[in-house]
Amino acid sequence: MSAQRKLFVTTALPYANGNFHIGHIMEYIQADIWVRVQRMLGHQVNFVGADDTHGAPIMIAAEKAGKTPQQFVADIAAGRKPYLDGFHIAFDNWHSTDAPENHQLAQQIYLDLKAAGLIETRVIEQFFDPEKNMFLPDRFIKGECPKCHAKDQYGDNCEVCGAVYAPTDLIEPFSALSGAKPVLKSSEHFFFQLSDPRCVAFLEEWTQDGRLQPEVANKVKEWFTVRTNPDGTTSEGLGDWDISRDAPYFGIEIPGAPGKYFYVWLDAPVGYLASLKNLLDKRGEDYAAYMADPALEQFHFIGKDIVTFHTLFWPAMLKFSGRKTPDSVFVHGFLTVNNGEKMSKSRGTGLDPLKYLSLGMNPEWLRYYLAAKLSARNEDIDFNPDDFMARVNSDLIGKFVNIASRAAGFIHKRFGGQLAAVSADGDALLSHLQDAAPGVAELLAERDYGKALREIMLLADRVNEYVDQNKPWELAKQEGMEARLQDVCSACIEAFRLLSILLKPVLPALATQVEAFLQVGPFTFDSARTLLGAGHRIQEYKHLMQRVDVKQLDALFEPPAAPEPEATVPGGEELAPTIGIDDFAKIDLRIALIVNCEPVEGSTKLLRLTLDVGEGKHRNVFSGIASAYKPEDLIGKHTVMVANLAPRKMKFGISEGMVLAASHGDEKAQPGIYVLNPWPGATPGMRVR
Ligand code: MSP
Ligand code: ZN
Repeated sequence: MSAQRKLFVTTALPYANGNFHIGHIMEYIQADIWVRVQRMLGHQVNFVGADDTHGAPIMIAAEKAGKTPQQFVADIAAGRKPYLDGFHIAFDNWHSTDAPENHQLAQQIYLDLKAAGLIETRVIEQFFDPEKNMFLPDRFIKGECPKCHAKDQYGDNCEVCGAVYAPTDLIEPFSALSGAKPVLKSSEHFFFQLSDPRCVAFLEEWTQDGRLQPEVANKVKEWFTVRTNPDGTTSEGLGDWDISRDAPYFGIEIPGAPGKYFYVWLDAPVGYLASLKNLLDKRGEDYAAYMADPALEQFHFIGKDIVTFHTLFWPAMLKFSGRKTPDSVFVHGFLTVNNGEKMSKSRGTGLDPLKYLSLGMNPEWLRYYLAAKLSARNEDIDFNPDDFMARVNSDLIGKFVNIASRAAGFIHKRFGGQLAAVSADGDALLSHLQDAAPGVAELLAERDYGKALREIMLLADRVNEYVDQNKPWELAKQEGMEARLQDVCSACIEAFRLLSILLKPVLPALATQVEAFLQVGPFTFDSARTLLGAGHRIQEYKHLMQRVDVKQLDALFEPPAAPEPEATVPGGEELAPTIGIDDFAKIDLRIALIVNCEPVEGSTKLLRLTLDVGEGKHRNVFSGIASAYKPEDLIGKHTVMVANLAPRKMKFGISEGMVLAASHGDEKAQPGIYVLNPWPGATPGMRVR
């Protein structure tokens, strides 16, 4: 075995604004397999994850849910375990970017970058929501696309025509939070100067020295020459990175800058270190010493959408704060389901991982299927139910599991569970498998899982050929063939063991069952160098794995039953008790012309309306609509009034009727008052019925 490696491995930290979807699970399975491979090679690994808790979207989601951001992310964190345990994803630690370790580490890294002269402040202008009293992230500003004039588009790009622009380019922008018209406001922001020649030189070297996947390195290369600005124009080279946000913000405070917080993407990757530190602290190990070991290797598994953060910002942050930089970043493509759309980050669609488990579907089917589709390249893959069933049933069960089920019964019933010496033909088969094992382990270590599994299945084919040639079920019926039967079945069990060793990183629970069945200790790749040998006793065979039932797949993709329509309260207010037509007829509604309208001195709520209802005289009506209308907006307009309401004496005079207006029952939740306005043609005095 090569010298023991010391590895620190992470997956991307998922946003704590929703449960895991199948795309997350795929990433974790990919990383988990790799970690298990390294451990089976005898290396030492710390494998950690955490929730990415900060940022405006989570703060806003928490507010909507009526929770503090802390409570909100804690509730999400509480739901993680069933997924991770369910799919055998063996993180050594799961932490949070809001934990004290992360506050401390992020602040220290910032201070180190500042000391290196790489932090600068600049005043920038941004949209501000005057009602919510906060700066608006691009995603929370909507308006009309300046290019194709589609309504209701986000502040950074148009989903209809694809145009990229700055929020300030939107026509009639509004805040997606309050509906208010945003105003431009300037504020001081902190920048990490990636354009500094030191950073550029370092990153050009770091990203192009062969540590990254070639297709990733090539993509990254482009960013050193051109960059796209928020307004769609392009500039040369790396731009400085805006790392601050103004209060209110759920995040980590910038030391020495009250009211300023780190942009979530600054503290998010620091969460890798925070989770590791938390793990080592719990074990009583020294984090500083661990990180200072020059032999330590650091790897991050991530998806293709977050490459910039991991190949530019993160290595530069580490480098110029005097820390160790990652040895590599392993980028995977996106998983789709049924050739579906890329799964949205917030609403995982397609294949619900918990539903999969609750249907009793074996988590290792999914691990096997995804592994069979994965390579070391940054490529998208698709989950296809028919393909899934075929691969699991014909490869995993048909070719692999069946080897054990065909041989073990005879060993148990006829030979007291004892293996015999294997003769030449069986030996040749086993040697072939043993010789192939290191190559398969290498493919797995290179993350070429699909290729590794194809190799393993070719080996399984060889074993099945041997079984078919020797037909143990016929040997069992023949007189005097006892020894040959034991010989052949022993070879099968030995071969099954060798295949199980190679599949263990993908099928860890099955491998554990096999270890018990064969009465051996935990497999490592080195276990494949030896055989069980004559005289070894095995346990009675118990069924190892079911086949996929098409009914399970049907159930998995059956859309959830539509929820009973909830009785909603229209307009935020219960309907009044039923009345008859006679009751309605008692109310005399008339078209009125607003001939004059003026503010009421001493009242912020009321407007004084002078109405013509076709009576040859005017009426005076007070109406609580001052928050919604300016007097000049109403003069000359028609509306509807209750004309037979008894006159009412008010502080400012007598009100001779009531103007009709619509409003929501919960004025705070849904502000706004809307005066009724008849279609053109209605004239003063007409009755409304
Ligand atoms: N919070 C950031 C990552 C911070 S890392 C310091 C984030 N979170 S995420 O929840 O949106 O995504 C987490 C990981 O899941 C990313 O690596 C992302 O690429 C991956 N995936 C999200 N959807 C995916 C698929 N449909 N398929 C495969 N992986 C996908 O980004
Ligand atoms: Zn458009």
